[in-house]
Amino acid sequence: MENFNFCIPTNIMFGRGQISQLKGAVEKCGTKILLVYGGQSIKKNGLYDQVKKQLEGLEFYELSGVEANPKIGSVRTGIEICRKEGVEVLLAVGGGSVIDCTKAIAAGVYYEGDAWEMIISHAEVKEALPIVAVSTLAATGSEADAGAVICNPETGEKLSLFSPLLFPKCAILDPENTYTVPAKQTAAGSFDILSHLMEQYFVPASTFLSDLLVESVMKTVIHYAPIAIREPENYEARAQLMWAGTIADNATLCNGNQLVSFSCHGIEHDLSGSFNTTHGEGLAILTPNWMRYVLSDQTKGRFAHFARAVWGVEATDDLQAAKEGITALENFIHTLYLPTTFTELGIDDSRFEELAAHAVEKEDLEYAYVPLNKEDVVAILKACL
Ligand code: NZQ
Ligand code: ZN
Repeated sequence: MENFNFCIPTNIMFGRGQISQLKGAVEKCGTKILLVYGGQSIKKNGLYDQVKKQLEGLEFYELSGVEANPKIGSVRTGIEICRKEGVEVLLAVGGGSVIDCTKAIAAGVYYEGDAWEMIISHAEVKEALPIVAVSTLAATGSEADAGAVICNPETGEKLSLFSPLLFPKCAILDPENTYTVPAKQTAAGSFDILSHLMEQYFVPASTFLSDLLVESVMKTVIHYAPIAIREPENYEARAQLMWAGTIADNATLCNGNQLVSFSCHGIEHDLSGSFNTTHGEGLAILTPNWMRYVLSDQTKGRFAHFARAVWGVEATDDLQAAKEGITALENFIHTLYLPTTFTELGIDDSRFEELAAHAVEKEDLEYAYVPLNKEDVVAILKACL
């Protein structure tokens, strides 16, 4: 078991009606607020009105229209508002894109140069505005982690920003706020959760405890995602997915593992950065193809373990079990109606060389579970067509 430091400083308020705690949570951080949200979803489902009611009597400004795969332009606009109005606390209401954009604003307010330069140069975040998050989509775990992923449409890049200062102070997680998430986003978000678990499970060394924790959360997603798609207002399904998403990607489950770079995420970020595709859909296409590409005598034992523990595969031969596990994963992807080829997303191979070179360089793919070079990534991308 590897050494680790572990601190999740986010105060999580989970369950029905927890929005009633929003005002108190915000006031603890400040009284001048920037409310950040995406398109129309929170207006349509009534959450916007509930939030506004909570903010009565407080001074607040709004940044709306944050897009999926959040763009650096929204970050810049948010920074400008914060500086001009002397904002003291950021309130993100939305999915991962809104929360990520808010994190970049929180750090960017204190950065002297341009916000994209801050991200591309991996500048250390020395100070950040406090963030309160109201999560509306079970997927990224951004509501209780230290990372953000931001796109620059001018360069086609999608890059990460990390700092312990970017953990939200408080996260309100009411599964009812996810009832209106469309089937496509429910499926993509669920696959993203599964992918976070897989990226930390396929590692050079894991622990007994971590394996059991991760496997149980994987099984939770596999069980409840189809239910949430069939019955969008099934509270238990939405609740299980929401909590699974929060704990899947903030080290809670994987402390002690020898963690390495995320392979499929490393490749996917360039795709959604360049083609504005949905993160979880890209992962659903890439993951089985990545598994088939890296399946070897070295990896078959671990893949067989996954197949038996998560999918109930009974084959005794490791290579056979590993292959059956990949097939089971593909069947699950079908049950969620997720795309299985890039062609379905309108992606052709014209930029694969460039994307692969960028992914290898920026996402440290040489330090992945199975180290990947540019040729490997191109081959995986081609298999996805
Ligand atoms: O903009 P609105 O109108 O809110 O609509 C959104 C958006 O169109 C909609 N939506 C969200 N909540 C809804 C809802 N629609 C109806 N009812 C609701 N309750 O869903 C669409 C997608 O939203 P988005 O925030 O983009 O989805 P998600 O939460 O999956 O976030 C994806 C982004 O997070 C990044 C991804 O790369 C991608 O940019 N990631 C962030 C991570 C992190 N911070 O730790 C890690 C992840 O691996 C990931 O990379
Ligand atoms: Zn992800």
